[in-house]
Amino acid sequence: QAARDPTPTRFPFAEVEAGSDTHHHVAAGHDAEILIRWGDPVLPGAPAFDPHNQSAAAQGQQFGYNNDFVGYFPMPGAVDPAAHGLLVVNHEYTNEELMFPGLGRQDLKDIAFKGMTKALVDIEMAAHGGSVIEIRRTDGRWAVVPDSRYARRITAETPMVLTGPAAGSERLRTAADPTGRAVHGMINNCAGGTTPWGTWLTCEENINYYFSGELTSDSAEAANHKRFNLPNTAYAWGRFHERFDIGRTPCEPNRFGWVVEIDPFDPTSTPKKRTAMGRFKHEGAAGIVAKGGQYVVYQGDDERFDYVYKFVTTGRADSGDRDLLDSGTLHVARFDADGRGVWMPLVFGQGPLTPENGFQTQADVLIGARLAADHLGATKMDRPEDVEANPKTGKVYVMLTNNGKRKPDQTDAVNPRADNRFGHIVELTPDDGDHAATGFAWEILVRCGDPSIAQVGATFSSATTKDGWFGMPDNCAVDGQGRLWVATDGNSASRTGRADGIWAMETEGQGRGTGKHFFRVPCGAEMCGPYFTPDDTTFFVAVQHPGEADEDDPKAAPATFEAPSTRWPDFDPALPPRPAVVAITKRGGGRVGT
Ligand code: FEO
Ligand code: CA
Ligand code: CA
Ligand code: CA
Repeated sequence: QAARDPTPTRFPFAEVEAGSDTHHHVAAGHDAEILIRWGDPVLPGAPAFDPHNQSAAAQGQQFGYNNDFVGYFPMPGAVDPAAHGLLVVNHEYTNEELMFPGLGRQDLKDIAFKGMTKALVDIEMAAHGGSVIEIRRTDGRWAVVPDSRYARRITAETPMVLTGPAAGSERLRTAADPTGRAVHGMINNCAGGTTPWGTWLTCEENINYYFSGELTSDSAEAANHKRFNLPNTAYAWGRFHERFDIGRTPCEPNRFGWVVEIDPFDPTSTPKKRTAMGRFKHEGAAGIVAKGGQYVVYQGDDERFDYVYKFVTTGRADSGDRDLLDSGTLHVARFDADGRGVWMPLVFGQGPLTPENGFQTQADVLIGARLAADHLGATKMDRPEDVEANPKTGKVYVMLTNNGKRKPDQTDAVNPRADNRFGHIVELTPDDGDHAATGFAWEILVRCGDPSIAQVGATFSSATTKDGWFGMPDNCAVDGQGRLWVATDGNSASRTGRADGIWAMETEGQGRGTGKHFFRVPCGAEMCGPYFTPDDTTFFVAVQHPGEADEDDPKAAPATFEAPSTRWPDFDPALPPRPAVVAITKRGGGRVGT
């Protein structure tokens, strides 16, 4: 190769060394400080964290478990919008074996049927959902504003409404809710987004884990639930709460799996499940304004061989309509071998979405979005996670995390690797630079994994160091300068010789395809939430499930409350590890990662 610029990227920071230990690590010249941990107070008067004497009532006032998406809203009228705002955080799921003393090893199914009690399930339900906290940066340090009037906990019991075309559908009605519009709670909220009108989009993902029981043999929901891999029964909730037993409440699962819109500035507002955006395992919902003013929300459905979607509103993002997300068109992507692609509308009555194929109404199309997309011939992807547009370039990045089940005869141009253990990132370019356009071009930005092992087939640039490659892209963020940052889920000492973390990923110029390691989580954790303040001076990241065992290491001891793989971030022998949000800033000020 010809001589090249030694720093061909827009990421001049000194890389973190890839590896895995009990601590977190950030690139030199940066500080990475704990902002809030599982169990810290959120609501005024919340009791102090005591994991040995936890209750659902206490947990419902404290920061929940497994922080995933993080969004930041500058406080209107703040002197410095990058130093005072609201932080919204998803609490995706719970790890009973790390949360509760005495439960023993980490086989979830085992715990679900042996050790769990109603009291523990109710704590779990209170540890799900989301948090709204007010935060302020003083003398360079972020802190939670205590007793804020904005503070809010949303749990698996919070009253919510279903809105949009499917709301009120017979298939959303239950004995407890004959209207088909009133739901309790949101679950497995993974990633999300923030809208220009100041709301939080939070996405229900693996909702099948919470349901148990068996449908009656004549159930009309059989094909629908099967397509959602439901029930999965990873959790014991159905033993104690009838609505999570599909034998008793067959339509309850249809009330989950949506994008939920929440106004963080009004703690009394009712969260709205936006049915127009479709029902599937929503990873995230990152939006951008199209040329014509519509709001376009890109969405991944995180399952092996599932799809990439986008939702285009009918109205304009600047219309002032607070229910903008109730009308619009959901589309699913087909990626063709020639590098072109098509967004196909999921509209009842169009193409195959007709009664002959089981769709009687638009509600059927939206509740069974996966089934509808199957009929349209959408492209089966390697687990679509975050999908995010870069406002500087108009390009869109799709994180495809992995798919070990793809067989050689199932490969295609956009999913070219069989047994795709390390995932890849696809770049879309909308036609005419318009996110509402139905055509796009695509190419693979990078195939992930270790470039030094030929059979892995990774395609990081040759400027990428031994620390700069990664596997299993999951979440991503685009900073104010249009630079892409990737968060991973699934790296470990035994799988890739490195913990999960954040990698900067150059998308432009000579350095395109270069990864650089910026932050790494403690062992057992995955990396979530990356989100920048509008001026890039703070980078919020979420450390999820620290202390789990290395699942690929057959010699690793089971991780439990008593014996986790790390006690991050407190390192107190009396405390278990705690998922936490970390605020990363540049020492001395300035943009992170410069
Ligand atoms: Fe909750 Fe797709 O990760
Ligand atoms: Ca994720
Ligand atoms: Ca993932
Ligand atoms: Ca994840």
